[in-house]
Amino acid sequence: MNDIWVVDDDSSMLWVVEKALERAGHRVRTFDSAEVAVEALGTDVPALVVSDLRMGEMHGFELLDAVHGRCAGLPVVIMTAFGDLDSAVKAYRHGAYEYLTKPFDMEELLEVVSRGLSQAASPEDDAGTSPSRAGLMMGDSPAMQAVFRFIGRIADSGMSVLVRGESGTGKELVARAIHDNSGRSRQPLVAINTPAIQSELLESELFGHEKGAFTGAHDRHIGRFEQAHQGTLFLDEIGDMPTVLQTRLLRVLSEGSFYRVGGTREISVDVRIIAATNQDLDRLVREGRFRNDLFHRLNVLSLKMPPLRERPEDIDGLVRHFLGRMDSDCHATRKRFEDEVIAVFRSYAWPGNVRELENLVYQLCLLSVGDTVRISDLPGYMIESSDSPGSGQWKQGLRRELSKRLRDGEVDVALDLSGEIDQLLAEEAMRITGGHKQQAARLLGWGRNTLARKLR
Ligand SMILES: Nc1ncnc2c1ncn2[C@@H]1O[C@H](COP(=O)(O)OP(=O)(O)OP(=O)(O)O)[C@@H](O)[C@H]1O
Ligand SMILES: [Mg+2]
Repeated sequence: MNDIWVVDDDSSMLWVVEKALERAGHRVRTFDSAEVAVEALGTDVPALVVSDLRMGEMHGFELLDAVHGRCAGLPVVIMTAFGDLDSAVKAYRHGAYEYLTKPFDMEELLEVVSRGLSQAASPEDDAGTSPSRAGLMMGDSPAMQAVFRFIGRIADSGMSVLVRGESGTGKELVARAIHDNSGRSRQPLVAINTPAIQSELLESELFGHEKGAFTGAHDRHIGRFEQAHQGTLFLDEIGDMPTVLQTRLLRVLSEGSFYRVGGTREISVDVRIIAATNQDLDRLVREGRFRNDLFHRLNVLSLKMPPLRERPEDIDGLVRHFLGRMDSDCHATRKRFEDEVIAVFRSYAWPGNVRELENLVYQLCLLSVGDTVRISDLPGYMIESSDSPGSGQWKQGLRRELSKRLRDGEVDVALDLSGEIDQLLAEEAMRITGGHKQQAARLLGWGRNTLARKLR
């Protein structure tokens, strides 16, 4: 039985992983640096490697390369505290077997390890490393980490991808990230936004037309499919595609060739398709408004973008990202966002998702006075709707009241406010107990005299 090697410069992490693996019946060897592990590769070969990404001198990727130099296809599991898109993409590009973002469950690691051990070593990667322009996509939340992993894993596959999600969740950004990180990145990413084009023109936009194919066709037109040859075609808002065109599209996708409108020459293309929609395609299929077979052809790989309200952890990072962009785009001085503003952001529902946040950050920067964006700068609807149930709303209310008094320059604010809160507690307990003082005091954990005093 070959050992599992664990490499991490963080000794406590090393210990935790070692113990977990041993408990699961594995034999483990630990290394506190990539250099030592590489040296050991000279005399020994592990069954699987679990490695940190950022360690002292030698980076996890170098270790990955060294391991594969010695033994191609050996599963290497990368664990990292820095779960950005770029690292995820690079990890898979360097042939990582799996990529885990710290903190992760030991269960998860054990599952990955046993999967890795059971897979037959297979030769990997065409190693067509192109510089990645990713990294523009932010997200610390587990949901976005999963998106990054997905992109990293499938970008190079060339398979069709269907990206779903509400408006403004970043579907187009995903399409770009997949393209940029694929072997097609030197060829164009061509987008077509279905609803933006008149349906009569859509066919010729997609497939092109010959001169004189119809009234107004004064010249030959090369369609998006041809423009995207060897690259990627992004079919945005695919749910809006008219049925006739769906049929035509399906045929082109299965045959890999088509005729320009009015043309007689068959044109073959090699195009990777990424489609996106914010509609419920399953419903459209059920209602017969979207072809089932086309749906399956597009939906080879499927990604659902999480709405922003389900990942409030991302808001801080996104705001900083947009502020940074604002600096470089508008040469505006950077503004600070009050913690309270971020708190409202975190409980707001963001129907327009990241786009709405992006626009609001720009707007607030331009319109707010001074160098700090305060809660009073927020549009009214945000404050009201952040009072929606389920998100510590009472604290929000309290916070707002507090901030107002502080800003109005009141003194003894803490004393006054806590007096009012005590009074509220007393009144409410009396109400709930039907005016039974002893019971109310007990519920509150106060003495009877205290309660009497507060009620006065
Ligand atoms: N994770 C992210 N990090 C940084 N910017 C993001 C992120 N997600 C979205 N954005 C930004 O939000 C805006 C909307 O993103 P995008 O156009 O990709 O959304 P979409 O899902 O295609 O929206 P729609 O359905 O309305 O077409 C863009 O300006 C994009 O740069
Ligand atoms: Mg879009």
